[in-house]
Amino acid sequence: MRSIRLENVSKTFYDKSRKLTPVLAIKDFNLLIDDGEALVFLGPSGCGKTTLLRLIAGLDQPDSGTVYYNDVPLDSIPIEQRGIGMVFQNYVLIPHWESRKTVGFFLRLRDREHEVPAHVKTVAKITGVDIESLMGRLPRHLSGGEKQRVSIARAFARDLELLLFDEPFANLDAKFRAQARVELKRLTQEFSVTLIYVTHDQVEAMSIADRIVVINAGRIMQSGSYHALHEDPDSLFVAEFLGTPTINSFWGRVLDGAWDGSYMGRAPLPASRPNGSEVIVGIRPQHIRLCADGAGIPATVERAIPYFAEKFLLLEVWLRKRRWRLQAPFGAAIQPGDTIHCRLDWQRALFFDADSGARIR
Ligand SMILES: Nc1ncnc2c1ncn2[C@@H]1O[C@H](COP(=O)(O)OP(=O)(O)OP(=O)(O)O)[C@@H](O)[C@H]1O
Ligand SMILES: [Mg+2]
Repeated sequence: MRSIRLENVSKTFYDKSRKLTPVLAIKDFNLLIDDGEALVFLGPSGCGKTTLLRLIAGLDQPDSGTVYYNDVPLDSIPIEQRGIGMVFQNYVLIPHWESRKTVGFFLRLRDREHEVPAHVKTVAKITGVDIESLMGRLPRHLSGGEKQRVSIARAFARDLELLLFDEPFANLDAKFRAQARVELKRLTQEFSVTLIYVTHDQVEAMSIADRIVVINAGRIMQSGSYHALHEDPDSLFVAEFLGTPTINSFWGRVLDGAWDGSYMGRAPLPASRPNGSEVIVGIRPQHIRLCADGAGIPATVERAIPYFAEKFLLLEVWLRKRRWRLQAPFGAAIQPGDTIHCRLDWQRALFFDADSGARIR
């Protein structure tokens, strides 16, 4: 078991030719990850997720700040004592090693090769049983998804304290992916392993995480459970990043203490703001209700998309030159081109400062 602490960690990438501007990939990052916690870094492409994982693994050094394992600085722990199993995005398998050799490397060095089959069996629950048939093959004879499975098997076939997974299931079939997440979660609990998992997929984050850390441009935007982040976002970024379908957002100005969105109407603000300041209001599609004809705001349906699993109909509508998303009951007889009427549930609206994106509470 292992707790991880990042203290004021920053990392900048410099172009060797000095022609490009340096990329400040991680900015003054502070985070404590508990023993046995399943933590997910969630954020858009390029936000610094892989960089963070490499810093935590000790594959890269921070420019400033320190990574601690159980309160010991990482660079003072010998590599063989770090107890890390890793699966990275660009799974690097040694080209002339058969999978069996790759997977058994750690245990063979310790004269424990006999333990390998049991580990492979464990991993088969995550990746599907055909993993055993991949053991005799070289990397060039494996597909992307198969290489990923071998990497996962390699990560587990050792004395583990910490698993670092960077989108490990990206190349698995959708059918396996859901099963793989459930199994991974179960195994990390069974073996009391700390898991740090990187993804840009919120469904994946939701199913694996005890806690999600949302990252944007190398900084922590917010952390918490999926539910807390979804229901109570601190910023417009988090509100827009989490939730399917995406939240609707509308620009407006403060007028006499209320939000004024011209044709959108007026709404009370949760906290007072100076007159004239710009405020964005966010309303999730499930908080817009259809009304009987004549009541509410009229809108023209552009598309009606059935969500079979969640049992609702997503309507993309045009309302005075703006596109909105709202949810209608599954099976409602609504076609593109229809005019519908709707009403916003202002009680559920979220308000954000238009300049900083910070939530107004
Ligand atoms: N070796 C490098 N040299 C220069 N810039 C780099 C290097 N590695 C990463 N970067 C830059 O640092 C930023 C963070 O990259 P990182 O790979 O951590 O993103 P990511 O969140 O993992 O993205 P993705 O979801 O696409 O994998 C990006 O702007 C990227 O271009
Ligand atoms: Mg990455």
